[in-house]
Amino acid sequence: MIDPKALASRFPGDFLFGVATASFQIEGASKADGRKASIWDAFSNMPGRVFGRHNGDVACDHYNRWESDLDLIQDMGVSAYRFSIAWPRIVPEGTGPINEKGLDFYDRLVDGLKARGIMAYATLYHWDLPLSLMGEGGWTARSTAQAFQRYTKVVMERLGDRLDAVATFNEPWCSVWLSHLYGIHAPGERNMDAALHALHYTNLAHGLSVQAIRDVSPKVPVGLVLNAHETLPGSESDADRAASERAHQFHNGVFFDPVFKGEYPAEFLSALGHRMPVIEEGDLAIINQPLDWWGLNYYTPMRVADDPTPGAEFPATVGAPPVSKVTTDIGWEVYAPALKSLVERLYARYDLPPCYITENGACYNMEVEGGEVDDQPRLDYYAEHLDKVADLITEGYPMQGYFAWSLMDNFEWAEGYKMRFGLVHVDYDSQVRTIKKSGKWYRDLALEFPKGN
Ligand code: NOJ
Repeated sequence: MIDPKALASRFPGDFLFGVATASFQIEGASKADGRKASIWDAFSNMPGRVFGRHNGDVACDHYNRWESDLDLIQDMGVSAYRFSIAWPRIVPEGTGPINEKGLDFYDRLVDGLKARGIMAYATLYHWDLPLSLMGEGGWTARSTAQAFQRYTKVVMERLGDRLDAVATFNEPWCSVWLSHLYGIHAPGERNMDAALHALHYTNLAHGLSVQAIRDVSPKVPVGLVLNAHETLPGSESDADRAASERAHQFHNGVFFDPVFKGEYPAEFLSALGHRMPVIEEGDLAIINQPLDWWGLNYYTPMRVADDPTPGAEFPATVGAPPVSKVTTDIGWEVYAPALKSLVERLYARYDLPPCYITENGACYNMEVEGGEVDDQPRLDYYAEHLDKVADLITEGYPMQGYFAWSLMDNFEWAEGYKMRFGLVHVDYDSQVRTIKKSGKWYRDLALEFPKGN
């Protein structure tokens, strides 16, 4: 086992260790205090969409247990907490009336963090779109980007004086491709034209939101959280190498290029640009605003091979077999070197601000036995990946912090409660929390670093 003290010595004293969650995955209380439905409430109630037809009605009941959960975060010894704000609590119908009680909840949460000396890293959108906005087309409509700008303003006016950092979106790859092209996440569409609309309007919403944040709270560091994929060619063949470049454009470039370069990637654009919505004058400038930081969510590499099917749609790739034989309980390949090569490759391609690893972690479904959860493979996963982050720091990359996904087991989207990513085990019947072996190890690591804002 890697000694947490030895690992800690590889990080600078001001490096931030944190834990992360997201509103829909932990809060529950889906109808409390004026919250209205999100697309995930509707989706999880449809047959065949989410494992076991699980939903977010109760989840970890964090909405009611927030105080003891903050005590738990404090017990974990971390300096920062990354959480998301539920749009349907704040502006329950997406546009129209503001719900003060929803704002009050996050007010209490942020004050509770401050009182415990824990920094507040908020995400504005972690996939719980107000269901009412589907009437306009959800993310396929330009009006949703405008509604998101207004919601941003409302949140920042209330919380902006106390947030330590804010992210506009979490993993737009999921809310665009996984939700509108692959049909796995809400709203479950499988339609390239719809997905291309969602893509541009999500990017636009990011830019409009950055404007609102800077207007209302110019001191709060603004970022964007991306689950960039390390698109590794399945072989050394020219065809697979070209396929991995197309995969990079499709899975990463469509977000990184407009945000950090003010343009969409060339090959992507020539293949699919004619199916995108009208890109109005000024849109790309709005999207391409300087950011104070960016967040990388990394779990597993993407292995890519050329798809030889005649007329295969861009990016015309298929999955190539994993290199590592080790997978987590959700079936994802464990391969820490890709975290490092991905960061290197992205800094070589783009002029990027400082980076936080905003999510990294592993799914293992061990249960409590004799009061303990022995999840050694998760501990090993953290140790291996943190070792790569330390290597990046040694090589001079501007890595500022690391957030473990997740604080506790929670609603794992289409997988329901079956898949567990927590450092803390949640018994969903009793709502009892038990710190796992990995959680105790992470606490020993985090305790090596000073706290306080
Ligand atoms: C990414 C997402 O941001 C988070 O919501 C999810 O639970 C984890 N990855 C694990 O899949």
